[in-house]
Amino acid sequence: MEFDLLAEFGKVYGDTEGVREYFSPGRVNLIGEHTDYNGGHVFPCALTIGTYGVARKRDDDKIRFYSANIKDADVVEVSLKDLSYDKAYNWANYPLGVVWAFGEDRGKSLDSGFEMAIWGNIPNGSGLSSSASLEVLTGTILCDLYGFDDLTMTDLALIGQYSENNFNGMNCGIMDQFAVAMGKKDCAIFLDTSDLSFEYANIKLPDAKIVITNSKVKHSLVNSEYNTRRSECATALKQLQSVCDIETLGDLDEETFEANKSVITDEKCRNRAKHAVYENRRTLRAVEALKSNDITTFGKLMNESHVSLRDDYETSCQECDILAEEAWKIDGVIGSRITGGGFGGCTVSIVKNEAVDTFKDTLGRIYKEKTGIDPEFYVVDIGDGAHRIR
Ligand code: GLA
Repeated sequence: MEFDLLAEFGKVYGDTEGVREYFSPGRVNLIGEHTDYNGGHVFPCALTIGTYGVARKRDDDKIRFYSANIKDADVVEVSLKDLSYDKAYNWANYPLGVVWAFGEDRGKSLDSGFEMAIWGNIPNGSGLSSSASLEVLTGTILCDLYGFDDLTMTDLALIGQYSENNFNGMNCGIMDQFAVAMGKKDCAIFLDTSDLSFEYANIKLPDAKIVITNSKVKHSLVNSEYNTRRSECATALKQLQSVCDIETLGDLDEETFEANKSVITDEKCRNRAKHAVYENRRTLRAVEALKSNDITTFGKLMNESHVSLRDDYETSCQECDILAEEAWKIDGVIGSRITGGGFGGCTVSIVKNEAVDTFKDTLGRIYKEKTGIDPEFYVVDIGDGAHRIR
């Protein structure tokens, strides 16, 4: 950790007696975008950047949150008797939501308070899941401090999603929390979101690196646009169900979709459903390709994913289109696409080892010319899921 969070905890809360230390990663999704709330497949991995937490129990009923990422931040103090959302709590609504969800969703109300300090190195608003990281961090802390040993890491992912849906009003799927909770060093997680069955796939590529490029833009209305996409998919599904025996869009293959798509009356909804169906199939194919060491096909499917998110799902943006489309032109780039919820944030690219420097120089220069912004690049290290450090 590049920051002494333990010392900071001591400064804020008086001393560090009896504290425990934790880490929860961010995530990047390689392929399978906006499929997780459509019963489809995703293929994310946990990063080695993430959120650190230091915490201990208290004897009274107070919960106290402090973030070392916010300059001159105050401690947010909440009583266990009133676990309700408050805009003024700002970022602390994420850990608070998890405390609330432990009681609400699992009947595990806390019998005494706790205090925690966090510090993270996931760039803000980058679409690398800083909120899921914080949710699963909080879940890990609660399980450890209060001895909720019957909860699995999958439970912590589900509780995180429950709190984000019902406390913070973002209707996200399960991918982010699952990746953050279940991550494994050097592996991507091939997850079937219809039943949460999964398998790890080694993604340590001998000849190439996974490179994240941060556009450094985040367009507003992300959450409301996201929730709109969900309801457009739900509308399309309902109409398809009048002619197909399916539970989710993930149950369809391309041919069946094409044969029946005319029942979807609204063109936008039809395009959204098309993305969900095709993207799910692309993800299955991409994992197959990876298993047979066919990284070229994997890259092509990533590019197709971007085009589909740009044209049919409309969750890309001008800046991320520039990053992906200019990347495709660079020698040694195997594939490149926008990653995560969209409307800004990052692209993820697979780049041959010998081309990484040229990739950064060329893309950095062109992006700056076209947008005035210097992008940031991170060569990805894939790490483990959330855990206690000390
Ligand atoms: C956000 C959500 C995820 C997923 C992605 C898009 O990151 O939190 O559940 O839907 O967008 O793939």
